[in-house]
Parts: sequence; structure tokens; C-alpha cells
Amino acid sequence: DGSLLAPTPPMGWMTWNYFADKFNETDIREMADAMVSSGMVKAGYNYLFIDDGWQGGRDNRNNIIPDPKKFPSGIKALADYVHSKGLKLGIYSDAAPLTCGGYTASLNFEEQDAKTFASWGIDYLKYDYCGAPDDMEIAKTRYKKMADALRNSGRDIVLGICEWGGRKPWLWGGQVGGQLWRTTGDVRDKWRSIKPVKTLKDLDTEGAGILDIVDFSQDYASYAGPGHWNDMDMLVVGLYGKKGPSGDFGGVGCTDAEYQSQMSLWSIMNSPLAASNDVRNMNAETKRILLNDEVIAINQDALGKQAVCKIKNDTWSVFVKPLANGDYAIAIVNRSETTQKSKINFAELGLNETYEIKDLWAHKVIGKGKKWSGMVQRHETKMFRLKKI
Ligand code: DGJ
Repeated sequence: DGSLLAPTPPMGWMTWNYFADKFNETDIREMADAMVSSGMVKAGYNYLFIDDGWQGGRDNRNNIIPDPKKFPSGIKALADYVHSKGLKLGIYSDAAPLTCGGYTASLNFEEQDAKTFASWGIDYLKYDYCGAPDDMEIAKTRYKKMADALRNSGRDIVLGICEWGGRKPWLWGGQVGGQLWRTTGDVRDKWRSIKPVKTLKDLDTEGAGILDIVDFSQDYASYAGPGHWNDMDMLVVGLYGKKGPSGDFGGVGCTDAEYQSQMSLWSIMNSPLAASNDVRNMNAETKRILLNDEVIAINQDALGKQAVCKIKNDTWSVFVKPLANGDYAIAIVNRSETTQKSKINFAELGLNETYEIKDLWAHKVIGKGKKWSGMVQRHETKMFRLKKI
């Protein structure tokens, strides 16, 4: 069908972790402004994703409407503003009568809501699954219904499937017309679950941390490619366990090394990059991590191949991603609780040539050869670009 939506993983900023449902049009405008002034838009974060909590029910013609207190000027005016800043606008609904937050959702109003979203100038829909049956066939049917409705809406609107992995959306999300699908439940602002985790159900009550999400998403690499991506949920970079108006985004906060790991791994695994911190107030470390153009280039590489995990043991996870120009990106994660020395022969990763090695966090070429060794801090990820010489 001609033009490909989401040829590379979508990038942007999402309301949920910082605001939950406590935001209004002024907050959104401020975030749009901050995304421009901080360099986020220039770095490629070109969607502003409104999550749950914008809805105000339906009018007397059953058209979905925003909460008039939160959005007195309406969503169309907001979309116009956001577009004038060089951003696209995402919105949120759910494949059931009500959303997770108890707001009006789109089941049985798919066509009507898709047309409303199109008339407002919406560019992306995150479509959640709270209140819907735990059944793969029903999930497929409901998501297809919305995907078809979006396709018939007269506007290009990306569909993000948000059913948290339980009904294996990597198997069918692309077929039914989605461009991305969450692989897991919500990421929390923490490194990993306290309990040892074999299945998603084993997670402690606070849910999945960065490393848990990685471990549960690494098997689906073959399902990702241009136009269809595994969504590992939002970036928690820069939250530091602080609560915004949401009062709760779960988790205790991470170290900068852990945030660097999240950025590295979400990038090399081709996840959408949806920041969720307060973009109006970012410290230097948060900017260093979110705005690393060389790491972002790995995520946005035109080949669209998701990294494969080549080594995994108690101390290390090592990922390899082929790039469009013949280079490779590799990520070396120290999973352990202490600094470790990594000694890696690239041949162990199936990379048998001699390479120039560029450290994408140090922003410099650090050597040439067939191997690398060096120190990796607790929970840190090194990320290299290897160029055959
Ligand atoms: C569950 C999703 O997984 C979250 O990302 C967020 O969209 C909330 N629902 C909103 O209610």
C-alpha cells in the first residue's frame, strides 16, 4: 500500500511516566517548546505522545471529546501548535469500553474515533488493552478493526499496539496493520526486579526494570523491521525516582550508568525511543544520554535489523546489530553488581574481520583490531560501532 509508516522506530516524548493523567494543554505546549529548545526535536524525537487521561467522554453525537477543563482549546488547536513546532502528535485510546485509567475508550467506536483523530490532525495512536479479554484472537480482531479504521480515516496515523506481550503481538501485530507492539508490561524506573525472574509473572510487585525488559524482548528480533517494531516501552532516562504530578511512575530511580544502558539497549534493539522525563528540566547527564546522536543513529539505521543477543551469562549480555553501510553496532552490558573487565574477541560474536572501533559514548575511535578489552562499570553498557578495515 505504497508509503510505509514508521520506516524507522518512532521517537518522541510521552506524557505517562511524568504526568500520568494529571496534565493539561498548557503542560503539553510547554513540553513541545522544551522539546525544541533542548534539542530533542533536532535529535529526532519528533512525536509528542499524549497518553491516557485526555478524554472527556462523548458528545450528543457520540463523538469522543477531550476533558474541557484540561483542554479548553480542544485537541485540534493543540495539534496545530505541536505541528507548528515541527512535531507530530500522538494520542491514546483502548480496545475496550474504558481505558486503564477509567476514561472513555474506542471499542465499537473505531471508525468514528479514527475519523475524529484524523480531523484533529493526529499522527499516531497508542491503543491499549485494559478491560479487554485475555484472548489472542479477540486481540487480533480488535486491533485489526482499529487499524482498518485508521487506514480509512484519510490521514496517515501510526498504530502502536499496547497489549503488553501476553497475546504474542509480534506474531500478528504487523499483519493486522500495526507498526509497533509492546513486548512486555510497563517499564519501571529501576534496573531490575528484586526477585529472580523466569517469566513475566515472576516480577516483583513493582514490575519490570530495564534489564527485565531487555531479557524478555531479546527473543523477538526476527519480528522487527522497517514498518514493524518491538516496543520495549518508554525510556525512563532522567526520572531519577522523582515523582512528577503523576505521583507514581514506579521504581526507585536509576544511576546514570543504568540510564545509559537503557538508551544503548533500546537503541540497538530497535525499540521506539519515547522519553518520559520532564524535558523542561534536564540535567547534563540526561541530555548527554538522550541526545547522543551516534547512539540514536544506531536506532534509526535504515536497515532496521534488531540486535541479536550473542552472549548471555550472569555477568554479561552482548548484542550485535548489522547496519545499512556494512558496519556493526555492539553493546556490552555488565549485568553484575561490581565493575568487571570485559575481554571480547569479535569472532565470538560472529564478526571475523579486523575493525576500527568507535566508542559511541566516548565519541571517539579507540582502536583497531579483532578484539576489545576494558573495564565496564556495574550496570553500564559500552556501545561500539565496528567498521571493517
Ligand atoms: C498501560 C500502558 O501499558 C501504559 O503505558 C499506559 O498507557 C497506561 N496503561 C495508561 O493508563
